[in-house]
Amino acid sequence: MPSSSPRGAHIRLGKPSLHGICRYTPNSAEPALGGSTLSHTGTVVDRGLEGVVVGTTELSNVEGKEGRLTYRGYDIHDLAPSACFEEVCYLLLFGQLPNKQQLEDLKVRLAANRMLPQPLVESMHTIPKTAWPMDVLRTIVSGLALFSPVGEDGSHPSNPRSAIHLIARTPTIVAAWDRIRRGLEPIEPRNDLSMAANFLYMRSGELPITEATEALNTYLVLLADHSYNASTFAARVCASTRADIYAAATSAIATLEGDLHGGAPGKVMHMLLEIGKPERSEAYVRELLKRKERIMGMGHREYKTRDPRAEHLEHMAKTLGEASDPKWYQIARALEDASNKVLQEEKPGKRIYANVEFYTAPTLFSLGIPADEFTCMFACGRMAGWTAHILEQLGDNRLIRPQARYSGPPVHPFVAMDQRSTRHGNGKQQAEAPNA
Ligand code: ACO
Repeated sequence: MPSSSPRGAHIRLGKPSLHGICRYTPNSAEPALGGSTLSHTGTVVDRGLEGVVVGTTELSNVEGKEGRLTYRGYDIHDLAPSACFEEVCYLLLFGQLPNKQQLEDLKVRLAANRMLPQPLVESMHTIPKTAWPMDVLRTIVSGLALFSPVGEDGSHPSNPRSAIHLIARTPTIVAAWDRIRRGLEPIEPRNDLSMAANFLYMRSGELPITEATEALNTYLVLLADHSYNASTFAARVCASTRADIYAAATSAIATLEGDLHGGAPGKVMHMLLEIGKPERSEAYVRELLKRKERIMGMGHREYKTRDPRAEHLEHMAKTLGEASDPKWYQIARALEDASNKVLQEEKPGKRIYANVEFYTAPTLFSLGIPADEFTCMFACGRMAGWTAHILEQLGDNRLIRPQARYSGPPVHPFVAMDQRSTRHGNGKQQAEAPNA
């Protein structure tokens, strides 16, 4: 039986649930609860699964009211300044912090797996240079499966080894595409550098300064996992069908892309560029909300406080900015203040604060990474969490297959072609048929 949930309805997806909130009444005309929908025979859930506990995980915990994020019980505030990304990968994949030798071994394994299969690099040269970096990343991560060991049933083993392949190669894909689209040859990874240092090296061909490596390392640590967020859930759903780890990781990347999730930081950067000066922030926010648009990088489904990761990212954006161009941090700071002020006026009672994406933008921009690659950077860190979740799902798997409340027309007779008009069936105007 599922353990009791801290809040919300607990539904163990894939396992029988006795924790339904409400049974569907076939005669009831429409949803009985304000804003909720009814499933066909099961439980009532809010749109967007808000407040619904759909499974268990030992990997990370988001305590939204307190604004706390922990990985296997370790507070992100302790990990961010002290741990290297490889250490966090070990923690997520193997269940505990590594000792010195274990960390060294994992570093060696990650470094040894950085190279991409040559045919994949060659295929990247054939992609239009205008291609969106996330499209390229999703495609090439999927392509990694083509060059991975295949079991007797044609699937690829999903195990820590394939997880390490994926974590090691994702940054190589991002750096290679960054160069290829600029008309440059990709730079081969070095196996004597950390994940963070090697990534920066593969972009420029130069060894990065310590401050840049440390900042990127902290970014990767902060982004490594975040419980059942949308992309991780997508990965778990995919894995629950017994699709392999490459398929599940590809699903996760596809789900990360949207701006309600990992696609936000590039748009935050566009706002900072458009605003141009800190003093223009408030007018900009007011104008945005007048147009009923959202302020990217603000708000979170789970956190009812400022995102705990934002504190570290703000600090990094400030420090990196002081060494290069302080403008982006200054505009971001003014924009956060203006957003807090205006959102409180416009949406009183709603708690909308900066999320992880807000200061990601000036941080990554100060590291020389262009805005349209920010979501790829998120994927580089989150690949650790995704793969750990996929393996956790497979460790106690049952197909994740929820129900939906059917809201279409009732059962009615088939209409022969010569009796069809533009209006038939339930009497509603039919959607226009597409031309193609
Ligand atoms: N700007 C303006 N209004 C907002 C914002 C925002 N950034 N976020 C929420 N709201 C408002 C909504 O308009 C809505 O108001 P209403 O009730 O008056 O219509 C209310 O707050 C609730 O919004 P929902 O979309 O129902 O809240 P949800 O929990 O689904 O949204 C989300 C969370 C998607 C992150 C939202 O805050 C948002 O769109 N933020 C901007 C995009 C963003 O930053 N995405 C990255 C999220 S972090 C991550 O995934 C890594």
